[in-house]
Amino acid sequence: MDQQHVEGDLDLEQTLFTEDQILSRLREMAAEIERDYDGKDLLLVGVLKGAVMVMADLARSLDRHVEMDWMAISSYGSGTKSSGVVRILKDLDTDLAGRHVLVVEDIIDTGLTLSWLIANLRSRGPASVEIATLLRKPEALQMDVDVRYVGFDIPNAFVVGYGLDYAERYRNLRCIGTLSPHVYS
Ligand code: XMP
Ligand code: MG
Repeated sequence: MDQQHVEGDLDLEQTLFTEDQILSRLREMAAEIERDYDGKDLLLVGVLKGAVMVMADLARSLDRHVEMDWMAISSYGSGTKSSGVVRILKDLDTDLAGRHVLVVEDIIDTGLTLSWLIANLRSRGPASVEIATLLRKPEALQMDVDVRYVGFDIPNAFVVGYGLDYAERYRNLRCIGTLSPHVYS
């Protein structure tokens, strides 16, 4: 597939994953998900805004019926670190009672936001709650969050693109990469 070059590409220090690499990994994850949820209904829950691209491409890789719903949450933290104190900005439209829920995430860093979210969703009486994330950072491994599907484990660097932002920019990049230091200064 042709790489679209947008202005933001110039701000990248290093490309970690190209669009092709992302899409082919998502197709592998989709195949696993199809097997695991065979014969079951499936509700994908995306976490706004970062998971928009992952949701769009993962859902379209699934050769089966799915429903999609969205939540927006904000975690209070200092700077780029989250604190685990979470507020719901937009709740789901769907009643989770008896549903098989798969949370679709862009990235798990400390895992604090997600462990709060999972506890919140579990309290609504679903049949199951699992997590699929495109990216996972090493720190997340220290948290007791059981992530069923992981696209890529990445080093502990701040990454942007494919839904991930720095100050709301770079979400529309097709690849994922690290930012050049000049962007921060
Ligand atoms: P925790 O630490 O609770 O936070 O797992 C996960 C959320 O933090 C954001 N996050 C990032 N956003 N590049 C980003 O654009 C990154 O490298 C990064 N690391 C964490 C993101 O919103 C994620 O949902
Ligand atoms: Mg996010």
